[in-house]
Amino acid sequence: MHNTAMQRYLFAFLMFEMMRAIHTNYVPACARIIMMLIFNYSNLVDPLLKDLRAFVTNFAGIKAGDRVLDVCCGTGEQVLDYGRRGIIATGVDNDPNMLNVALKNRKRHDLLTTSFQLADAKELPFPNGYFNYASISFGLHDKPRLIRKSVVSEIKRVVKRNGIIILVDFNVPLPQNAFGLFARTIEFFAGGEHYRSFKDYLASGGLDSIVKEHGLVELNRTQLKSGLIGVIKLIND
Ligand SMILES: C[S@@+](CC[C@H](N)C(=O)[O-])C[C@H]1O[C@@H](n2cnc3c(N)ncnc32)[C@H](O)[C@@H]1O
Repeated sequence: MHNTAMQRYLFAFLMFEMMRAIHTNYVPACARIIMMLIFNYSNLVDPLLKDLRAFVTNFAGIKAGDRVLDVCCGTGEQVLDYGRRGIIATGVDNDPNMLNVALKNRKRHDLLTTSFQLADAKELPFPNGYFNYASISFGLHDKPRLIRKSVVSEIKRVVKRNGIIILVDFNVPLPQNAFGLFARTIEFFAGGEHYRSFKDYLASGGLDSIVKEHGLVELNRTQLKSGLIGVIKLIND
């Protein structure tokens, strides 16, 4: 069998087994560890979200020369899409391993308008109103409620008045389909505080409750991946 076909088959088999294990509430502790050894963000999540990055840039209407912050940027894929279009983009994340991947990709593609910084999203190292736009993708569902609140307050602070904020995260309620089951599976294997926060994010109403809590004004919204992902464009009023 061709190598890629074999990898796909193995991936599908493992996902099926994981879902079955979760469904039957039987997940040995070592399963989480094995999963973490086999899969990482770059080889599992990034390929699945490849088309999301260009979509977000287009949906937000960001143009070359705009100054944009991507919060909790992970491996930097959104920032790199901004950079390919001449947008002046900065990504921040508090995980040096994620940023190392981002920096390697930046170097490989030679994207001069992009930069990455190690920083805590609760205390962004930028002055008030510094950016025209900010985005955060899958950086809210994984945090406890109070941290979620601080992160969004910080995003509001560093985006100029009437600037644009893009929130991308799991839609609530999650769809009752394979995509929803897949998300629950991934989050379950993330475990610990991440999984507890995910459950709280779902229970509290997800992005809608965040938009309401922070008094953000909605311009537009859409859903992707059969209702799994919500994308909301907001004005920093
Ligand atoms: C689920 S990943 C999303 C990554 C990326 N935005 C994407 O769409 O693929 C969440 C990211 O948030 C980062 N993160 C978690 N807490 C953070 C904090 N307090 N400050 C900055 N980054 C944080 C993690 O290191 C991780 O890279």
